[in-house]
Amino acid sequence: MILVTGATGNIGRALVKELAASGAGPLRGLTRDTGRAAFPEGVEAVEGDLARTATLKPALEGVRSLFLVSRVGPDAEIIDAAGQAGVEHVVLVSSITVETHPHLGPAGENAAVERLLRDSGMAWTILRPTQFASNALWWAGEIREHGTVRAPYAEVGLPTIHPADIAAVARFALAEPGHRGRTYPLTGPERITARQQVETIAAVLGREVPFTEIGRQEAHRGMAAFLGDEAADAVLDVTGGDVNDELITVRDTVARITGSPARTFRQWASENAAAFT
Ligand SMILES: NC(=O)c1ccc[n+]([C@@H]2O[C@H](COP(=O)([O-])OP(=O)(O)OC[C@H]3O[C@@H](n4cnc5c(N)ncnc54)[C@H](OP(=O)(O)O)[C@@H]3O)[C@@H](O)[C@H]2O)c1
Repeated sequence: MILVTGATGNIGRALVKELAASGAGPLRGLTRDTGRAAFPEGVEAVEGDLARTATLKPALEGVRSLFLVSRVGPDAEIIDAAGQAGVEHVVLVSSITVETHPHLGPAGENAAVERLLRDSGMAWTILRPTQFASNALWWAGEIREHGTVRAPYAEVGLPTIHPADIAAVARFALAEPGHRGRTYPLTGPERITARQQVETIAAVLGREVPFTEIGRQEAHRGMAAFLGDEAADAVLDVTGGDVNDELITVRDTVARITGSPARTFRQWASENAAAFT
């Protein structure tokens, strides 16, 4: 049995679909609301709250392989519960910032979760993706309501990744041999700036979406309201304020593992155009 956490999210939705289509065996998707989850036929929807580890017991029963999104709940307790339940292999979504920005708080938390997993006695595969194409959904409300985007660091290009490529790598790690004990930094196929992302969304929508570059302070005010001060600063650093060569490097990991080229931001924007209209 494979259990996918975050199964209704950007990565999890794609992963559940891929695993189901590839006939990887019995499959369960975790969600806090089974009524809203629309999984493919044959996939068991199981209710559980990662923030309340005790609720995960039924979900973990009989599970051999676990796909775990980090920093949604108390990861130490979750990893412990997985080990107790007899899970053999955990595929963890961490972050590339563990290697590019280890001094930042969220990166330190991910590094700690990785260590816990490596020391857990279970087999592990660690995925370290860069920023997701789906982070552009942050602009969706603004585009729908005002038809414009105001964002900082307009000209900083990052190798943004399509979440379906993280799912594709996770599918290989869960269902194919040779991925245990491996740590994979994951990026998209090319660097793209915030301005180019908005131009791509505009092209897909077939209309103009004017872009106004704003300063860090203004961006911080908007983000801190949702994320808190420290996380907002960390996001601003890794999206433009403090980028480094390692963060902007395009990696070939997705293509090497899956045998298919990593998907472009344009592909993500085409698939998700409805979110912006
Ligand atoms: N965005 C980035 O640029 C970036 C970069 C590196 C790493 N990451 C990592 O990627 C992961 C997020 O992936 P994503 O974008 O696929 O997720 P997402 O689309 O934000 O979805 C969040 C998922 O987590 C589930 N969830 C949230 N709170 C939960 C709880 N208390 N109990 C159980 N499930 C809960 C939701 O399920 P329900 O609502 O159905 O319960 C949903 O499926 C995180 O681990 C994050 O640290 C993100």
